Amino acid sequence: MSGRETGGDAGWETAADLVVVGSGVAGLTAALAARRAGVRVVVVTKDVPDEGSTRWAQGGIAVVLGDVTGDSVDAHLADTLAAGGGLVDASAARAILAAGPAAVTALRGQGAVFDAEPDGGAARLARTREGGHSALRVVHAGGDATGAEVERALLAATSRAALTVLAGHAATAVLTGPDGSVQGLEVRDDDGRPGRLAAPAVLLATGGVGALYETTTNPAVATADGWALGLHAGAALADVEFVQFHPTALHTGRAGPGRAPLVTEALRGEGAVLRDTTGAPVTAGVHPLGDLAPRDVVAAAITRRLAQLGAEHVWLDATGVPDVAARFPTVAASCAAIGVDLARDPVPVRPAAHYACGGVVTDTRGRTGVAGLWAAGEVARTGLHGANRLASNSLLEGLVTGRRAAEDVVAALAGPRALGRVDAAAPRPVPVADRAVLQAAMTRGAGIGRDAAGLAAASDAVEAASDLRVPTTRAEAEDAALTLAAHVLLAAAGSRTETRGCHVRTDHPVTDDRWQRTSSTVVLDGDGRLHVGTTDARRGGAA
Ligand code: SIN
Repeated sequence: MSGRETGGDAGWETAADLVVVGSGVAGLTAALAARRAGVRVVVVTKDVPDEGSTRWAQGGIAVVLGDVTGDSVDAHLADTLAAGGGLVDASAARAILAAGPAAVTALRGQGAVFDAEPDGGAARLARTREGGHSALRVVHAGGDATGAEVERALLAATSRAALTVLAGHAATAVLTGPDGSVQGLEVRDDDGRPGRLAAPAVLLATGGVGALYETTTNPAVATADGWALGLHAGAALADVEFVQFHPTALHTGRAGPGRAPLVTEALRGEGAVLRDTTGAPVTAGVHPLGDLAPRDVVAAAITRRLAQLGAEHVWLDATGVPDVAARFPTVAASCAAIGVDLARDPVPVRPAAHYACGGVVTDTRGRTGVAGLWAAGEVARTGLHGANRLASNSLLEGLVTGRRAAEDVVAALAGPRALGRVDAAAPRPVPVADRAVLQAAMTRGAGIGRDAAGLAAASDAVEAASDLRVPTTRAEAEDAALTLAAHVLLAAAGSRTETRGCHVRTDHPVTDDRWQRTSSTVVLDGDGRLHVGTTDARRGGAA
């Protein structure tokens, strides 16, 4: 990055109109759209650009393109509302889902290639089904490598557009001026060297929080950075207790924390079935859609069955799916790596932390409540997901809100703006927990099936494993973000005394009408204290 060396602790400094933090589907879509509008954009990413969650997405993109008889945006909305357990903001959801076709068409225009129907020519895209969908509406690429194709196409467009990408730099703070508006971003490189990007607009597109748990389908970079950056900048979070556990992560039998390969739900869409270790079906009698029930229902059913049997996994039998290894090459390769032949053997699977349904509160243009701060993708809470995200709505949301956020930034930059000076405040020490202790505590106390005692014990364990530090390396910044995120999640989960969507309280097993349409919110005050409140889920969006 060329820029002005300021010397001393401040490191280098440079300027941009918009700084995008994150290089997944939402971040790159936003950066490309803003660049096309003539905005000076810098994308900051703490690892290599394709290391985020986007590339690991398998199933596809849920979208109504208008060529499937009987499907409609209304039907997609109805499925999204049903999956979301009463907390979806219907008007935000409608706006995002209705913008889906244009977003997918634009992505194809940028070079993304989706799988076509064998007899329909390239124009007619193949569709699959996933849990909670009433129609075949999930488009996919490379069989089960949709995210990889989306990321490939966006990175190719990024290099064609000569976008500036600052890799290997972790965002450590959103800089704000005396009036609270955004003035830029502070970063540190892999060796802890600081730098600053002065900018009137920052877009958080940092992805998820999977590293809060010992086992997750997320890559290692999913360390809740955006939640922490947003909170410290003054933004509100909502619906953070709704962490979605994917029902079928591959049970590798490997000890210790880390990424568990995803076994896409699309396999069940194509006919694979779940059985427990005695051979009994797992979801019979649980939901009319059986194995294709919404994800929270299937994950909770598997968790109950594992507890009843004292088993470590259930089986996913995909041996009846035609040409299964060719249709699902990514899953087939993950299975082969543990000696399982997807075409002949049942696959050992169990739930794993997968997706944050809540996050930084935004409207459908990515606006947070902080002037100059936008958020898009998994880090954001637009109201689309409510208490449980509908399968394959996430890439769609990233595409749509990434573009909309860019348009909103461009409009905001055209108006009057003042980039004030940010005087370097003395960095304040924050709690930083030992990551392994935190992950063990969150896995034990805040997984599928939580209760007040377990949540409190997790909070105590995280606190006991923390010390106060000024983070100066990427690992410390990540651990600080995870520590704050753990406390935020535990506080919100503790306050919601009911079971809804992904939030399963064993001590409050019933869905309580008093919580219907009520979102939890969390803000951080200037003294580092968290405040948990509630808001109407339909008015959760800022601005
Ligand atoms: C899957 O392919 O099962 C995951 C898709 C998603 O998380 O939406």
